[in-house]
Amino acid sequence: MRATDVIATKRDGGELTTAQIDWFINEYTADRLPDYQAAALLMAIYLRGMSRRETVDLTLAMAHSGDVLDVHGDVDFAIDKHSSGGVGDKTTLIVLPIVVACGVPVGKMSGRGLGFSGGTLDKMESIPGWRAELTTEEFLRQLRRHGIVLCGQSANLAPADRKLYGLRDVTATVSALPLIAASIMSKKLAGGADGVVLDVKVGRGAFMPTVERAVELARLMVQLGEDAGKRMVALISDMNQPLGRMVGNALEVKEAIEVLRADGAPDLRAHCLAMAAHMLVLAGAAPDLVNARDMCQARLADGSAWDKFCLLVRVQGGDVRSVEKPTLLPTARLVQPVPSPHAGFIAAVHADKVGMASMALGAGRERKQDQVDHAVGVEVLVKVGDAVKVGAPLFAVHANDPERLVPAHEQLLSAVRWSDAPVKPLPLHYDVIT
Ligand code: URA
Repeated sequence: MRATDVIATKRDGGELTTAQIDWFINEYTADRLPDYQAAALLMAIYLRGMSRRETVDLTLAMAHSGDVLDVHGDVDFAIDKHSSGGVGDKTTLIVLPIVVACGVPVGKMSGRGLGFSGGTLDKMESIPGWRAELTTEEFLRQLRRHGIVLCGQSANLAPADRKLYGLRDVTATVSALPLIAASIMSKKLAGGADGVVLDVKVGRGAFMPTVERAVELARLMVQLGEDAGKRMVALISDMNQPLGRMVGNALEVKEAIEVLRADGAPDLRAHCLAMAAHMLVLAGAAPDLVNARDMCQARLADGSAWDKFCLLVRVQGGDVRSVEKPTLLPTARLVQPVPSPHAGFIAAVHADKVGMASMALGAGRERKQDQVDHAVGVEVLVKVGDAVKVGAPLFAVHANDPERLVPAHEQLLSAVRWSDAPVKPLPLHYDVIT
């Protein structure tokens, strides 16, 4: 087979065979094809698209490009969740302990933040001592013994995705539906999931700008999973404004702790309950969503979800005292409010701008190798629909570097829109795809 023939077939709008897709992915993963040929194929796919059969083949080829985990010696049904990424999305920190407290073990691999999207591992690493990198043996042992694991993706899990994602990032080919769907689902299949609840974000702070595109992506991923014999459901959730109140690593851990120990932000709590309930139903641990939600609420109320969070911190080397007393978590030296220059109703709090402000304070990374400052970030004090007076605090900026305060302040003000007329709050969810 020749790479140029594969590229030319897609360039001219043809359909690739299963053998062509398998061959290309194998050769590229084994470094026998150069980046420029893979980049050319990615651009051809971006422009010409892929049929459902091609997308399934691409997903399976990527899933089998490295190790495929089998957790069935340790759990009966492997349930997983995946968020397509957003601003203030600390859902995993809350959902995992809830589901585990309901009697369903979860071993989850997560990612780090890039750009204005935060990463679960960066958030958890604000807990002193907590270790994200586990070997496959450690992952399986912890899942068997404790029923809860959260860690980085092992190096040999879907290595084709690792290489291709890096290339997509620098060739303007990230936002192609078949490529996104294959990237996400290949990792879930390689991780050994039997069922996946997808959290597909839509809006200013998400990959998908419109509900239509998000539904299209969600349908594709649900189909891919089902074709591979998995139980799937996808929530289409809002990411026009940040989720919850905190954006930034330790700030988001503190907010997750609030939900686990008390009530926390209502939108964040409601979203986590919905995600956890879907996971329980998919795993067969609850007959329907109403029962599942009641179970989740009971586990929050009786403190058992909180106990599971503490267990996750302890068994991965984290200092449990710092989550029991969150003032011991990294804290920024400077906290400055951003007052509202106008009176009226909040019409928008653009999540992308808030994410960029938090990143500019040092909470995120522009390049993979950048270090994050766990203490800094943004507290979002208003939601769309709120009424504000002149001078009311819209945000609180948490910074360590005084020189970063003014740019963050300006960026945050540019994120807000006001209206003289009342504005309806944004919905939390737009659709559920089954
Ligand atoms: N998340 C992924 O893992 N891959 C994509 O392509 C997009 C979001």
